[in-house]
Amino acid sequence: MTVGQTTGIAIIGCGYVADSYRQCLSLHDRTLRLTGAYDRDAQRLAAYKATWGDHAYASLDAVLADPACSIVLNLTDPESHAAVTEAAIAAGKHVYSEKPLAMTATEASALRDRARAAGVRLASAPCNLLGESLQTAWAAVRAGAIGKALLAYAELDDGMIHRTHYGDWLSRSGKPWPGRGEFETGCTYEHAGYALTIFGAMFGAATRVTSFAALLVPDKQTTPPLAHPAPDFSVGCIEYENGVVARLTNSIVAPYDHRMRIIGETGTLEIREPWDYASPVILRRPGEGRIARLIERRLGGGLGKRLPMARKVPFKGGRGKPTMDFLRGPAELAAAIRDGRPSRLDEDFAVHITEVTEMLQYPERFDRPARVQSRFASIEPMEWAR
Ligand SMILES: NC(=O)c1ccc[n+]([C@@H]2O[C@H](COP(=O)([O-])OP(=O)(O)OC[C@H]3O[C@@H](n4cnc5c(N)ncnc54)[C@H](O)[C@@H]3O)[C@@H](O)[C@H]2O)c1
Repeated sequence: MTVGQTTGIAIIGCGYVADSYRQCLSLHDRTLRLTGAYDRDAQRLAAYKATWGDHAYASLDAVLADPACSIVLNLTDPESHAAVTEAAIAAGKHVYSEKPLAMTATEASALRDRARAAGVRLASAPCNLLGESLQTAWAAVRAGAIGKALLAYAELDDGMIHRTHYGDWLSRSGKPWPGRGEFETGCTYEHAGYALTIFGAMFGAATRVTSFAALLVPDKQTTPPLAHPAPDFSVGCIEYENGVVARLTNSIVAPYDHRMRIIGETGTLEIREPWDYASPVILRRPGEGRIARLIERRLGGGLGKRLPMARKVPFKGGRGKPTMDFLRGPAELAAAIRDGRPSRLDEDFAVHITEVTEMLQYPERFDRPARVQSRFASIEPMEWAR
């Protein structure tokens, strides 16, 4: 229910990421009101409630029957997304789903069609596209700071997670990071959206994808061994409607590197960490003279100029606090519903991102190169970045 400017939201799935969302709630206290949370694991729900004091629903049905909840935040594990989203749509709730919207493009399109038929809205994470850093980069591209955009490179390498002590990574309410699930879902399903959403906003729909994926470390030293380990490496080239070509690499094998570069005729924009709303945006000019070329070679890209942010980031991340405002996506959906306008992360966009992600992680399911079927309406920059 929306009361004045405040929209009721409920969390389904009180796992690792739920705490990250919950930590961001105070940034939205004038527009979002958390009506409560539910997890099918009673112990998990109790630990979440003990940490945050929120209302704990007795069942999924209880959430779906609550008129105070307008938007369901589906923060379950990826394999549970479609079933929970489907139930919420059937109950007449709007849904904001963690990524991926579903495990296949076919399933994602079916959810979109169900939502449309039910007259409810569907949107999906990630929402880093709405953050200050990527909005600043996008505004620079639109303003011609790099001339005509030609090429985009994104690395989403996370290092050898299976060799880290990830069992010690605990969320605020004590949920261990779900390594096993992540290894079976696959790093491309988990992370590609962080790059694909900004590329989609900047360049329009992806039209063709040529990808390669492999499982390089089948034994991730889990007990018991993984039943269905997913590819832990993928690299894909994506052609966009406006002619830009992107190369996106995902792995949990190569050392941590999240560098994103947008290369144009007259310059390159670089963002070191697209998971951080405060990540600086650096503009570099191509080295033309001998000295400039030398600097470019020595410094791996040359000297750069830090662009002013489109606005100041309204929170401080790091030191146990999220570097992304996870609730900016749900807040965008709530505002779109209130204002009767499309959401920037709407269902067509979510289906598109899911389709391209599936092509990247499972190229064998598609023709080569794979022709992307889904499209979406162009996305508006945030008001403060226009
Ligand atoms: N872990 C991270 O750092 C991170 C960061 C960003 C996004 N995400 C995304 O967030 C989502 C959740 O990830 P997580 O790390 O929190 O996983 P998790 O396994 O820690 O938590 C998922 C929770 O959902 C619950 N659940 C599953 N099915 C349910 C159902 N039908 N009804 C009620 N509860 C149900 C589980 O019991 C579990 O507590 C995933 O889509 C993931 O891609 C995770």
